[in-house]
Amino acid sequence: RYLDLRRPEIGANLVMRHTATQAARSFLCENGFLEIETPMLTRSTPEGARDYLVPSRVNAGKFFALPQSPQLFKQLLMMGGMDRYFQIVKCFRDEDLRADRQPEFTQIDLELSFVGEEDIMAIAEGLVKQVFAATRGIELNPPFPHMSYQEAISRYGNDKPDTRFGLELVDLTEKLRGCGFKVFNAVIEGGGIVKAINAKGCGTFSRKDLDDLTNYAGSFGAKGMAWIKVKEDEWQSPITKFFNENEIEAMRQTLNAEPGDLILFGADSVAVVNQVLSELRLELGRRLGLMDSNVYNFLWVTDFPLVEFDAERKRYAAVHHPFTAPFDEDLALLESEPLKVRSRAYDLVLNGSEIGGGSIRIHTTEMQAKMLNLLGIADEEAEEKFGFLLRALEFGAPPHGGIAFGLDRLMMLLTGSSSIRDVIAFPKTQKATCPHTDAPGSVARKQLTELHLRPDWKEA
Ligand code: AMO
Ligand code: AMP
Repeated sequence: RYLDLRRPEIGANLVMRHTATQAARSFLCENGFLEIETPMLTRSTPEGARDYLVPSRVNAGKFFALPQSPQLFKQLLMMGGMDRYFQIVKCFRDEDLRADRQPEFTQIDLELSFVGEEDIMAIAEGLVKQVFAATRGIELNPPFPHMSYQEAISRYGNDKPDTRFGLELVDLTEKLRGCGFKVFNAVIEGGGIVKAINAKGCGTFSRKDLDDLTNYAGSFGAKGMAWIKVKEDEWQSPITKFFNENEIEAMRQTLNAEPGDLILFGADSVAVVNQVLSELRLELGRRLGLMDSNVYNFLWVTDFPLVEFDAERKRYAAVHHPFTAPFDEDLALLESEPLKVRSRAYDLVLNGSEIGGGSIRIHTTEMQAKMLNLLGIADEEAEEKFGFLLRALEFGAPPHGGIAFGLDRLMMLLTGSSSIRDVIAFPKTQKATCPHTDAPGSVARKQLTELHLRPDWKEA
């Protein structure tokens, strides 16, 4: 790696990372934020990933967790009167790795008191603007556009749309209800949906192109990928014969289908269709060169659901985290229809990548206890895990909220890198190991027994 760092490209990435953190720091200092450190040896906060645990020597059988984020500490700082906090801080999440995920990564983390969404968004926009100007000389023009979660899912199939190009998803379920194509009809009868993408001008795709795309869709769970080539005088496809004139006309209009176009279909459950088509859309965007690397499209995604149903654990789980406030106007639904309650969370998306996320927090004991109950955390467990927070809220907490940027992801986009490993001096491998030191490594049996761990392996 140290030889690799001598290569101008990789070295320059670290220089730009330095420039970015200095710009962020000076912006935040100019805006009255205090840089405050929070503990690394702490209790796990439920951010959704698995924790890295550290056994305690002094307290037999007890464990620290490395923080998945400083979430609760920054909220406690608000209760302590530190009205504007920030930290450029390491976070740890033991999750499956991808090109934009590392087990330890860095957040630019903020929290503010006496604010609403618009105040936090304005600060976040100012910060990003300063970072872009300092690193790339790019002049951004906030405020950035907003889109609701529902709209993002409906038009793009995911909650972090790349809005640099069209090829949007179009719902055909109602138009094709009762159609003669058995596959679609069975899906619709069974409560699923049919959506399609009009790949403009792709009517020239070869059989092989279509087979490749079908396989690609299959890798995300699609059971098939019906297609239609729109020609001047016919709709060329093995499935055209199953549709009547009205259905063809309805598809032509809803999809704005013109000669030379290619229509790709997904039929399945809502979740599968959205995932498959959103991935197909991105693949088409890549193939057709529609992702202009000189364009930076920022988007605030808002109005997320507060909770989702975790089918495996048979309980509700927070979509952002359990400290996020629900919409006041949805409070009446909290007990009766929790899935319909919206949260005051927001994500900042850049060219299809989630570079930041935050929320307005719950700031009363009563509401926080209610939320923990909704998540199936009984009073006793709530007291054991979050008693300190519930207690702190009792002392009068200011309304507060914040956001955290994924610095590594932001740097990946600023430097045009294809992996966050290219913007980290000493990154971990895909298997979450440190290739430089060979960590994680073995330790002596004595070290383990001192930690009250009883290994069942023999010493090498
Ligand atoms: P969240 O979990 O959305 O929010 O994380 C904030 C941002 O951190 C980045 N990120 C990652 N980057 C690299 N590798 C990872 N494994 C990884 N996981 C997350 C993303 C993400 O948008 N405490 C809340 C913030 C808040 O509510 O203020 C939090 O951590 O870019
Ligand atoms: P079949 O009737 O199985 O030969 O399928 C006809 C066409 O429909 C093929 O192009 C399949 O790829 C496609 N297809 C099958 N199942 C689905 C599905 N769930 N969603 C989209 N297309 C499908």
